[in-house]
Amino acid sequence: MTSSDLWDEETAARYDAVCAEDFTPAETDATLNVLAGLAGPGRALEFAIGTGRIGIPLALRGVPVAGIELSYPMARQLRRKDPDGLVPVTIGDMATTRVDGDFSLVYLIYNTIANLRTQTEQVACFRNAARHLAPGGRFLIELWIPPIRRMPPGQRAVPFDVTDRHLGMDTYDLVTQQGTSHHYTHEADGSIRYGTTNFRYIWPAECDLMAQLAGLEFESRVADWDGSDFTADSPSHISVWRRAT
Ligand SMILES: C[S@@+](CC[C@H](N)C(=O)[O-])C[C@H]1O[C@@H](n2cnc3c(N)ncnc32)[C@H](O)[C@@H]1O
Repeated sequence: MTSSDLWDEETAARYDAVCAEDFTPAETDATLNVLAGLAGPGRALEFAIGTGRIGIPLALRGVPVAGIELSYPMARQLRRKDPDGLVPVTIGDMATTRVDGDFSLVYLIYNTIANLRTQTEQVACFRNAARHLAPGGRFLIELWIPPIRRMPPGQRAVPFDVTDRHLGMDTYDLVTQQGTSHHYTHEADGSIRYGTTNFRYIWPAECDLMAQLAGLEFESRVADWDGSDFTADSPSHISVWRRAT
């Protein structure tokens, strides 16, 4: 049983088109370069692989990639793009599901650790990553920094995307570290679609402690896939922990 929202058919069908608007080919390329470099000659495992936005092109670069994914609709989109099964996917919860073999890299990108909405499950997810790593293997996560510094006392919502097509805002409960993303999307037929996703936000320091509980050693933290420095103003981080050799 997981606390994650289940990604449905409609969301899965739209997912790649939305990502194509959010990520330039150069950004995707930078992501693939980092992941391929960390995987080296070993195998990579993507937790919450989704439609294979990154997993499939990484496999096409020659890295053997496997995935764990909770949503059948998302996994079906992946299989539609990869009918020959280059990227095997196990349906299950990334906090608990075990796949065969060990890996030089386990990665969990696009803020997805936050989809697990309890601290217990997030710690279990770090432990599950560690369980899949060969000695010396690495666990990488990409995660945004919750922008709660932008909230004056009494305010609960922060807009994160305001365009003609999409209005997105997050609401936060600072006591429980729970949040909800609200999306209002202007459709081509003039209607407005509303959707929400729920998350539990965590800071880099809490991630480091979870890694420590999982027996992993901190290795690096940068702000983005281009390797830029992580600073107090960075909106996101890419962090890597390593299993001892
Ligand atoms: C933002 S998408 C990221 C997909 C892919 N990693 C990417 O970068 O495009 C989040 C994905 O996490 C999956 N997910 C959410 N909770 C999960 C869980 N507990 N175990 C496995 N997958 C989960 C969702 O079904 C969805 O496919």
